[in-house]
This record gives sequence, C-alpha cells and structure tokens, in this order.
Amino acid sequence: MVILKLPNEIEKLRASNLIVAEILHELRQKVKPGVTTRELNQFCEESAKKKRVKPAFKGYRGYPFALCASVNGEVVHGMPSDRPLLSGDILSLDFGVNYQGYFGDAAITVPVGNVSAEALRLMQVTEASLSAGIEQARAGNRLGDISAAVQERVESGGFSVVRDYVGHGIGRSMHEDPQIPNYGVRGRGLLLKPGMVLAIEPMVNEGSYHVRVLADGWTVVTEDGKLSAHFEHSVAITENGPDILSRIQ
Ligand code: CO
Repeated sequence: MVILKLPNEIEKLRASNLIVAEILHELRQKVKPGVTTRELNQFCEESAKKKRVKPAFKGYRGYPFALCASVNGEVVHGMPSDRPLLSGDILSLDFGVNYQGYFGDAAITVPVGNVSAEALRLMQVTEASLSAGIEQARAGNRLGDISAAVQERVESGGFSVVRDYVGHGIGRSMHEDPQIPNYGVRGRGLLLKPGMVLAIEPMVNEGSYHVRVLADGWTVVTEDGKLSAHFEHSVAITENGPDILSRIQ
C-alpha cells in the first residue's frame, strides 16, 4: 500500500532530509586518506545528537551503526571499521534520520585522495543515473519510467545495476511501498501521483551485477570484487514535478 503525503507532511520530510543532506555534506569533507569509517560514523552520531534527531539505521533490524560506509567492492550496508581509508578508494556513505517521526534517507559516493579515471566515471554515471530517474518522478508517469531511465543511463555507460537491492517509499517509516528497482520497462508498473515520496537509490557495479552478503550478515559486496557506487535521494512527486527533499536548497 502506497501512502500519499499531504503538503504539510512533505515539509516534515523535507526537514528530516535536509538534516541528512547537511550531515552528509559535512561528512564528505572529512573523507581523506588515513581517516577510518568508524570516525565518520562517530561524527554522524554526534551530529545527530546535536541536531536532536535519531539516526535511522542504528538498531534497524539490529544494525549497530548510524552510518553505512561501503568501500570499493562493497555495494551497500558496509559496516564502519578501523581500517584507514587509502588514496584510490571510493567510499559510499549512506545515512538516515528520524526527525519528529518523519524519515530522511540519502547516500553519496566520494573519492578518497586520487582515484582512477574508471572509478571516477563509475561515480559520475551512477549520480547521472539517479538524476535521470528523478527526472521521471512525475505525476502521470509510471514507476517503470524511473527504473528504465536509471538502467539505460547505467548500461549505456557500460556498467550494471544491482538487482537484489532496490529503492523504496519513505515517510513515517524508513521503508514503505513501493519498492523501486533500478531496472525496468518504461510505461509499466505503478502510476505515479502527487504526494508520493520515493527514495531512489541506484547501486551500480563496474562489472557484473551479481552481489553476495558477507558473513557479518550485512556487508553486500560485488561477486567479482570490482567496484560499486551508490547515490540516493528522497524525492517528493508534486504537481510541479520532482522535488528533491534531500538536497541542500
Ligand atoms: Co534508502
């Protein structure tokens, strides 16, 4: 069941997502060789406390951190650790909060020091695929228009979209219907309406789209060990088109 949001609820979701965007913006400036993802997680926990919001991931199905930090061949749900980041790594930072009962959720992938041209292109194509998906988040379109736009942008860039994890509706729960695959067929699926709020989150692999979960029960990695990137925005569908809530205005 897809829950439509009233304009006043969209403003609450904007407030929550703006906090996520601000924390991610500060976080990305801390990413340097030698820094650990545990330190980045600590920054998120402290920032959330200062802003009087609850980190949304911590305790979710037993997940023990505020931040998901996925390095190189880690796709999503990477656990913060004491391994120092190295120049050449790419790092996906996924963060969410609960602010007055409304959830915010967004993700970015950033380079650590100097990265290869191919790693840079993977990040650029993934971010561009998110933009292409958002562009289709319009009343009267179908969910498949979003999914297909993401997939086409990714595959025309020579990369692959992860099948096993998807985007989601967001509101008073972090995960609501509908599920939003990053692959699909234009004109198919749910009819999009004003008041829907969607977390669109392409996970894009350099090599094959196959992934597996490590023994820690969380970390999703590429089966072939090649790189993966992830970008996410929470987007409201309005009468006037897509409204990106998780972007600093
Ligand atoms: Co999400």
